Amino acid sequence: MKHMKNSLPALLALVMILTLAACTGGGQTPGTAAGTESKTENTTAPSDKTKSDAASGTDETAAPSESKTLVVYFSRTGEQYTVGVINKGNTAIVAEMIAEKTGADLWEVLSVDDHYPMTYSALTDVAKKEQNDKARPSYKGTAPELSGYETVFIGAPVWWGDWPMIMYTFFEQNRNALAGKTLIPFSTHEGSGLSGFDKKLASAVPGATVGEGLAIRGNDAQNRQDSVRESVNGWLNDLGF
Ligand SMILES: Cc1cc2nc3c(=O)[nH]c(=O)nc-3n(C[C@H](O)[C@H](O)[C@H](O)COP(=O)(O)O)c2cc1C
Repeated sequence: MKHMKNSLPALLALVMILTLAACTGGGQTPGTAAGTESKTENTTAPSDKTKSDAASGTDETAAPSESKTLVVYFSRTGEQYTVGVINKGNTAIVAEMIAEKTGADLWEVLSVDDHYPMTYSALTDVAKKEQNDKARPSYKGTAPELSGYETVFIGAPVWWGDWPMIMYTFFEQNRNALAGKTLIPFSTHEGSGLSGFDKKLASAVPGATVGEGLAIRGNDAQNRQDSVRESVNGWLNDLGF
């Protein structure tokens, strides 16, 4: 007992030193020093979903569920119907407008090895053959890690009344990762509208919620961008963005 009494001050000092060390960063995860400030800021500004999770009793200190949005699109430059030779694809223009308004990340589905010709008539032949063959042409690289995204806008030109076959490659290769997400289709076209992109997407990715899509004339995307931006922003507002 006497021995215990003698060592009590030393013990208290040790506890104080350990507490001080913890407060001054002793518990920081290695490798997170760079950008720590902004990361910390993000975690203290929970998204709406985090707020409702907290309200329903979910652990408030869990990792933030920032609502992240991705825009995936396929689009062609070169010679296109009614617009001549273009440097930026019609669908690419709409995809960028969506990303600009929503703050979404963008990812372009690109074909490999100049698979699609740059002249319109040759391209229509290749696309028709692919559709008849139910081909699944490869795309370049790997799709982004999808787990962090809640909503994925997916856009493409209408080709022969359907999604270009390369988009089915994307749907099928990422089916599991896309299931459970909200997928919102958009098209550019020259008369066929959305061409059932929504229903076709729902069948290609069972388990996803497919939101209301948007169809934009390719020629308008190229030449009437102010009015297209208005349509895009109006549609996004209606969707809650
Ligand atoms: C192979 C091919 C097939 C097409 N089929 C259709 C079609 O069925 N209906 C339609 O309205 N437009 C069709 N178009 C026109 C494109 O949908 C339109 O030009 C589109 O805006 C092109 O977009 P992009 O520049 O992003 O590739 C087709 C164009 C191509 C190249």
